Amino acid sequence: NQGSLWGGRFASGPADAMAALSKSTQFDWVLAPFDIQASKAHARVLNRAGLLSDDDLTAMLAGLDQLASDVADGTFVAAESDEDVHGALERGLIERVGADLGGRLRAGRSRNDQVATLFRMWLREAMRSVATGVLDVVEALTAQARAHPDAVMPGKTHLQAAQPVLLAHHLLAHAQPLIRDVDRLADADRRTAVSPYGSGALAGSSLGLDPEAIAADLGFAAAAENSIDATSSRDFAAEASFVFAMIAVDLSRLAEEVILWSTAEFGYVTLADAWSTGSSIMPQKKNPDVAELTRGKAGRLIGDLTGLLATLKAQPLAYNRDLQEDKEPVFDAVAQLELLLPAIAGMVGTLEFHEDRMAELAPAGFTLATDIAEWLVRQGVPFRVAHEVAGACVREAENRGVGLDELDDATFASIDPALTPQVREVLTVRGSIESRDAYGGTAPSQVQRQLDVLDRALPAL
Ligand code: ARG
Repeated sequence: NQGSLWGGRFASGPADAMAALSKSTQFDWVLAPFDIQASKAHARVLNRAGLLSDDDLTAMLAGLDQLASDVADGTFVAAESDEDVHGALERGLIERVGADLGGRLRAGRSRNDQVATLFRMWLREAMRSVATGVLDVVEALTAQARAHPDAVMPGKTHLQAAQPVLLAHHLLAHAQPLIRDVDRLADADRRTAVSPYGSGALAGSSLGLDPEAIAADLGFAAAAENSIDATSSRDFAAEASFVFAMIAVDLSRLAEEVILWSTAEFGYVTLADAWSTGSSIMPQKKNPDVAELTRGKAGRLIGDLTGLLATLKAQPLAYNRDLQEDKEPVFDAVAQLELLLPAIAGMVGTLEFHEDRMAELAPAGFTLATDIAEWLVRQGVPFRVAHEVAGACVREAENRGVGLDELDDATFASIDPALTPQVREVLTVRGSIESRDAYGGTAPSQVQRQLDVLDRALPAL
């Protein structure tokens, strides 16, 4: 059976339904370039161990290079009879260099250490690419923050008006978790950069191969300490899946706000035409589909993570075929992020903010009440009393249907003698925001400091 890696002890080939169930070339083909790269490294290690002559090595490497270019341009593709990418590529190599030489490459390795290694190689590249996409979103957020240094908005808790903040501060509050996600990817990469190659099926190699040399050749930081663990653990994939899901969840929080902000009721932003869609029936519609798809896909990435964890749960050591189910959820999560990240960056980068609307709403809902209380504290009033007094101001303003700043001096004095006319210093949105100048606060000086720190210390992967 051409392309089968294990026919010897079987009198017949697999049943059709068995072969169909077993097959993974429809998704594991993306590992092909890594498989060939690792095969070249393996051939060099076989040569150094005296298991492949110099001439054979030269011919083997040439055959693998030919196979790589045939895979790249689509000349070589999976056949119906191929079980997985590893078997298909051995068939391809034998077609190019003959069965005698092609059949030597497999010495000392198993698909178990192969697939674990290739998955890690693929994932390390994918994490780097995702990190770049996430940093593009961070860049779009910081560019908007820089473009609107003075814009104010109502900060909310419970989606209720809370305290005025700078728009830039709010936008950077979405950048911060994304920066941590990139840092998480860098951290996950440290544990992914360990090579299982040389672990064989589970017990290691007896052929004098050098796992450390092959690890270095493939860009790994180290060879695995334990061949059983190396061939059967997938916590590296689960960890990356968590970070991918976290990125999607973090993006969904930003997306949800963009959806709200673009409603007529909020009126904070207008979406660029290029990053919104229309309705097939309602001519006036302009819908925030990028943001909605982001919100929707976050659910899908959570599913990818939980699906993978469920696959890993309770698997006995060492390799089990269940592990073939490890790849699709991770491939899917990365594919979805590759779609989302550029779209989110484009949408955020082109948001048109309506500063007047946000400024008008910033003091609405008595968002300066905390400023009255804190002003009283600075005059020596206990906070418990100050909170009561500021609450009484809100009640009075609400009864009269006016803003806190519209209460007259006599009314303030009648609520509490400590409320002298000087309280008006803090009864402006600007005054409130500028007063919050402790480290990490919304005062312009602190937001500028935050931007400076971001510029200096973006994580790299
Ligand atoms: N295609 C398998 C996977 O993706 C690798 C080979 C399985 N090894 C085995 N002994 N059946 O995990």
